[in-house]
Formats: sequence, structure tokens, C-alpha cells
Amino acid sequence: MGRPDLTIQIGTLKLATPFIAASGCFGYGVEYSDLVDLSTLGAISVKGLFLEPREGHPPARIIETPSGMLNAIGLQGIGVRQFIKEKLPLLRDNNAVVIVNICGSSVDEYAEVARILSDAEGIAAIEINISCPNIKEGGITFGCNATGTDEVVSAVRSTTKLPIFPKLSPNVTDIASIAKAAEQAGADAVSLVNTFLAMSIDVETRRPQLSNILGGLSGPAIRPIAVRMVHECKSAIQIPIIGMGGICTALDVIEFLVAGASAVQIGTANFEDPMIWAKLHEGLVSYMKRHKCNSVKELVGSLDLSDRKAEWTSS
Ligand SMILES: Cc1cc2nc3c(=O)[nH]c(=O)nc-3n(C[C@H](O)[C@H](O)[C@H](O)COP(=O)(O)O)c2cc1C
Repeated sequence: MGRPDLTIQIGTLKLATPFIAASGCFGYGVEYSDLVDLSTLGAISVKGLFLEPREGHPPARIIETPSGMLNAIGLQGIGVRQFIKEKLPLLRDNNAVVIVNICGSSVDEYAEVARILSDAEGIAAIEINISCPNIKEGGITFGCNATGTDEVVSAVRSTTKLPIFPKLSPNVTDIASIAKAAEQAGADAVSLVNTFLAMSIDVETRRPQLSNILGGLSGPAIRPIAVRMVHECKSAIQIPIIGMGGICTALDVIEFLVAGASAVQIGTANFEDPMIWAKLHEGLVSYMKRHKCNSVKELVGSLDLSDRKAEWTSS
């Protein structure tokens, strides 16, 4: 058996591998160009961008937790215009496939950021962050119900021809219904999940550990919940799913693919091991050879439920 085919298709976008760097965990990509050949990644989802630069929350913004981390960065960023001017040319020079994660405090702001990006050269897709759990205006307030999701996705859809991937929040009762709303509003794929709303307290001082009080939980602790959500969305929608949440090893990647993800994003694990990409790549290839699998597409949604039935399911 030759080398298995790792290419995947997400709408009109063809990626060389299913591995995508998750937004907020890989800077604007260029910061890692000395460590990682950016062209070997399926794509890079850059840190979330608003129309204008943003400072984010004061420290403490990150806390380590058992099997994960809690963050309340507050979407610090350089703003979309500065990104296009300073970072995008460097990403182009590195032949990176660039997905831009966009944010907004209003529907109009999302649409305006998408419009500005549509005129820029070298952007493969837009990921719409409607799920940030630690900002006051925008973010999760749009992604927590079907109406808000529809409003933002429809507005961005009418502004750009670029592929759009709304990024869904896990902080909902029925994520499949939000995925359906995103699909009906014209999304090309959905990304899931963003972080889980969470909190940590210093019991000596009896004060919250984060300056923002609440933050978003990521890392291995959330993985089984994220896998369940990918599985639920897979049976509810036709468009591809980009899965993430606590992926650390190639076997974790495969778990998401089997549950129904066409591609995966790696976030928190990158902080521990920025060289993780080659290991994931080799691990996936080795699994595929062992299972006589010629194309990664054969794994997507290959979950065998023949002798199982869930007693409880939300969809
Ligand atoms: C420090 C940090 C910053 C993040 N910033 C963003 C962001 O700007 N936009 C976004 O959509 N998601 C953001 N996320 C969420 C991640 O992209 C990802 O959805 C989440 O962390 C789950 O994946 P993981 O467990 O592999 O980290 C951030 C996560 C972390 C830990």
C-alpha cells in the first residue's frame, strides 16, 4: 500500500491534510514560522479579528486546570485592517492556507469585517466566531440560539463569496439545532466546538482566579463532550464539520473523524507541544495503513452503530 491520501474537501476548499491550527492557539501563524513549515498544515485559523484593534482583558487571563486550561483573553487582537497589511503578506510568503476567524459586537460588524477580507488576497475561508464565552457584547450571545446564528451567518453570506464556517458554542442544550440554522443560512461548513463556559476560584483568597471571573475551558477535559457534539451534528446536517476540543494525539484526531468531522483543529495541545503536527501526521498515516484505508475521507463519519442504540439523544 502506498502513502494514504490525506486530502480533504470542505465545500470548494481543498486541504492537503485534515489538520488545522485552532484560532487563538497559533497566533497569526507567522509567529510559528521558525518552528513549523506553515505550508504543511491543512490550514491555519488565525486569532479572532474585530474591525478595530482590541486590548482584551487584564491578567490573570489563563489558568491551568486538571486536564485542560481556562482562558479569558477577551479576544485581544490587531483588527482586520492591520492583519491584512502586516500579517497576511507573511502568511502568503509562507504558502499558508489561511482561515480568518472573525468576531463582531453587532451583525453589521461581522458583515463589515467579512467584506474587508473578501477584497484581500490569500484568504481561503472565513470562520465566524459566534461562540466566544468571555466577552460582553457579541460572541456567544449570537451563537447560543438559532435566530442569532441565522442573523450573523446570513449577513456574512450576503457579503462574501469566500467559504464561511460558523464556529459553534458547546454552551447550548441542542447544538444540532444551531448547526442546522447555520446550514440553512448558507454556511459551507461548521466548526465545533469553542470553549466551555467555566470558572475557577482561589480558595485561600476566595476570589475568582481570572480577572474576568468566567472563562472558557479547553483541552482534554472537554474532548468526550466535543466528540458527542460532532456526532449529534453529523446526523443533523449535510455540510462538512470541522471538529475540535482536546485533541492531543493521532488517535484523538481519528475519533473526531469517525464521529463525523471532515477536518480537525488543534488548540490547547499546541501550547504544550508546538511540534505536534508531524506526530499527528505520522500517527494518522500509520493508523490508515494498519486499517488498509486509502483515503482519509473513508474515515469521516465511519462510526459503526450496528449493534448500539442510544437510550437518550437530543436530536
Ligand atoms: C487561549 C485561547 C484563545 C482562543 N481564542 C479563540 C479565538 O480568538 N477565536 C475562536 O473562535 N476560538 C478561540 N479559542 C478556542 C479554540 O480555537 C478551540 O475552539 C478550543 O480551545 C477547543 O479546542 P482545544 O481543546 O484543542 O484547545 C481560543 C482558545 C484558547 C485556549
